[in-house]
Amino acid sequence: MRAVVVTEYGGPEVLRQVDVDEPHAGPGRLRVRVHAATVNPADALLRIGDIDDALRASTLSPPYRPGMEVAGLVDEIGPGTPTGVGIGDRVMAIVMPIDESGGAYAEYVVVEADQVTLAPAGSSHAEAATLPMNGLTARRALDVLHLAPGETLGVTGAAGAVGGYVVQLAKADGLRVVADAAPADERLVSALGADEIVPRGPDVGQGIRRRHPGGIGAVVDAALQGDEVLPALRDGGQIAIVRRPGERGTSTLHPDRGITVRDVWVPDYTHATGKLDGLRMLAEQGKLTLRVARTFPAEDAATAHRLLEAGGVRGRLVLVFD
Ligand SMILES: NC(=O)c1ccc[n+]([C@@H]2O[C@H](COP(=O)([O-])OP(=O)(O)OC[C@H]3O[C@@H](n4cnc5c(N)ncnc54)[C@H](OP(=O)(O)O)[C@@H]3O)[C@@H](O)[C@H]2O)c1
Repeated sequence: MRAVVVTEYGGPEVLRQVDVDEPHAGPGRLRVRVHAATVNPADALLRIGDIDDALRASTLSPPYRPGMEVAGLVDEIGPGTPTGVGIGDRVMAIVMPIDESGGAYAEYVVVEADQVTLAPAGSSHAEAATLPMNGLTARRALDVLHLAPGETLGVTGAAGAVGGYVVQLAKADGLRVVADAAPADERLVSALGADEIVPRGPDVGQGIRRRHPGGIGAVVDAALQGDEVLPALRDGGQIAIVRRPGERGTSTLHPDRGITVRDVWVPDYTHATGKLDGLRMLAEQGKLTLRVARTFPAEDAATAHRLLEAGGVRGRLVLVFD
């Protein structure tokens, strides 16, 4: 089968389409004939060698394969696998590139049955592929914050994949949302449901504080702005962060202010089928928008990576395995 692999760690040019053996579904697993696999910031991290330790500790050997979410058709079900989907069903799945079957950039992926659910009715493969990993990340961010309906949530990176889903899921949860946006993204972020928009950039925390002089209770920092966001929070508030080196968990930042930092780590929801299926339902109800920026034949993965790294992409770049 065709797969796109990282021949050595480096720039987008190290991505190559190669032929590898087809995987087959063992017990508890499904095989998906992939039609669409998204290109995410995490794929670029794998490509440059940022997760080399985890890959070396896995059962995989190089060349490694990026990719964390797919959509396609179920075409094999391992013996004795309990699953709500059947052969030929259109599905979407979260994929972990350090698991034994490797990443999502391949014509076939084998995943555990609980990593898969039906694709939203009416979605294309490319649209469906944009939901599992980033939707589950957004869901996890909101779940670790445990906010009550009516509370106010700040969101940075709201025009992005994670931030956009956070805005929409937060609204579905009954929260009030203050989100950042560049002038060119204001209509987009507003259409996603943000109640208030503040200018994006290093002043975002102060911008939120000016509108909420007492501070707000929580922020999801999808733009990785860290300290720049903290002025938005009232003392005792929480910040959910999506990337930091070292240990994950919950910790206290600025003890004088009692700010709680909550790490968001989507592998915690790899097997959260109920959450994944909840995302499907919200997409079918029109409460989550599946945004595809552009599709590429899989062999053009390097071009997609270059565009991703240039920034400014709105919606996801998607590799297509026809
Ligand atoms: N921990 C986990 O499990 C997990 C899971 C999924 C994703 N992530 C991480 O979450 C982050 C967001 O992912 P994504 O897929 O949503 O990325 P994305 O689609 O590129 O969105 C990021 C958004 O933040 C904006 N941005 C970047 N730097 C900014 C800054 N300094 N100030 C204001 N806005 C800024 C970007 O704007 P421009 O495009 O204009 O630069 C973009 O709109 C990534 O770092 C990703 O690796 C973590």
